[in-house]
Amino acid sequence: MSYQKVKGTLDFYGESSRKIRYVENKVRNIVKNYGFEEIITPIFEHTEVFVRSVGDSSDIVNKEMYTFTDKSDRSITLRPEGTAAVARCFVENKLYSTPEVKKYFYCGPMFRYERPQAGRYRQFNQFGIEVFGDSSPFLDTEVIVSAYRVFKALGIENIKLKINTIGDFKSRQDYAIALHDYFEKHLDSLCSDCKNRYEKNPMRILDCKVDRNSEVLLNAPKIKDFLTDESKEYFNKILKSLDVLKIPYETDESLVRGLDYYTDTVFEFVISGNSELNGLAICAGGKYAELIKGFGGPDIPGVGYAFGLERIVSVMEKNSLFPNLVNAVDVVIISLDEDSKIESLKIANELRDLGFNIDLDYKNFSFKPQFKLADRDKCKYIMIIGEEERKSGIYTIKDVLNKTEDKLSYDEIVKKLYN
Ligand code: HAM
Repeated sequence: MSYQKVKGTLDFYGESSRKIRYVENKVRNIVKNYGFEEIITPIFEHTEVFVRSVGDSSDIVNKEMYTFTDKSDRSITLRPEGTAAVARCFVENKLYSTPEVKKYFYCGPMFRYERPQAGRYRQFNQFGIEVFGDSSPFLDTEVIVSAYRVFKALGIENIKLKINTIGDFKSRQDYAIALHDYFEKHLDSLCSDCKNRYEKNPMRILDCKVDRNSEVLLNAPKIKDFLTDESKEYFNKILKSLDVLKIPYETDESLVRGLDYYTDTVFEFVISGNSELNGLAICAGGKYAELIKGFGGPDIPGVGYAFGLERIVSVMEKNSLFPNLVNAVDVVIISLDEDSKIESLKIANELRDLGFNIDLDYKNFSFKPQFKLADRDKCKYIMIIGEEERKSGIYTIKDVLNKTEDKLSYDEIVKKLYN
């Protein structure tokens, strides 16, 4: 039997693991400048956490969750997204007990049973942020701008910010009634999933992957005709502040997002001009005014987004945006007999303690294979230890780039490495 990874999952090693960590670290550094703090929640939760928040009319809950029963008969789900778990943690730990705005970020694997294709996996990594405690269009703008600045810092340009409002509770209630009335007349032309969505939440019909471009959907009532004055004003303030900050965007009234917890602002950064990934969201989010209350917490709104790290890596690869990520070796130590090999272990660790990256060969005593290792490592220096060097405490050190060679004591070598 040959063992293979599960369909829709990825292995990361060598370049690919360096790339995804590079992106993660860049994002971490940027969001830390905004005062975000890391929050780490379990990878699995009680299924109800996602059903209540993401919603039982969403594709995620209906079709895509990895749900199993544990040995005590609890229904457990591998997290398909981060917001619900962070909101659950916020409420359970009463993180709302002090009044300031709370800003969290998280990073890790999410699980969705989707049809695997370019940029769509069954285990993928999200880097997300969530802000709890304030309802302000300017906070929403700040959140969107932080994502925009991540893309700037990574050099990603071929993306479009799409933004919409799906209104407050009252707007959506009126809209849901209008959609219900409208789709009632067109039930026959909807796919079987949409017939279910019609019963549970007709707004979900609007992001159906099957019916999305059908006449019926294109002619459906638009949320903009049902927005309350407050929702309109809230959205206009976001657009105005994005204009002032010179953040390019497109309003897209068909954008409703596939998760039920959103209210008012929704947005996606979508990949453009990149054949395979064209149209896929690379970051998506929005405001959710009711989620904390839904988990039994106080009436505190939240807003956030999540990046798909694999998608960011793909876009950066396609546009050659990664710097050289080779983990540069400072010194390869070559040893010519057994006692020198032991000495090389000792010296390697002393130099590592000083922060240098050291590699050595564990088996060979001849030059040829050890020079080969130095060549593969593309190291800056080669240090040679043989019987003579061990006894005198004076080692041969070769500068690979400048092709020079010196005989130096350990202390002199350290000085050289620092220069
Ligand atoms: P989402 O749109 O479901 O939102 O996912 C956010 C991002 O995760 C997507 O834009 C995409 O880049 C990535 N992503 C989603 N599914 C996959 C997949 N199957 N394979 C690869 N990448 C994927 C959320 O998850 C919300 N929790 C975002 C949020 C945070 N809203 C408010 N706060």
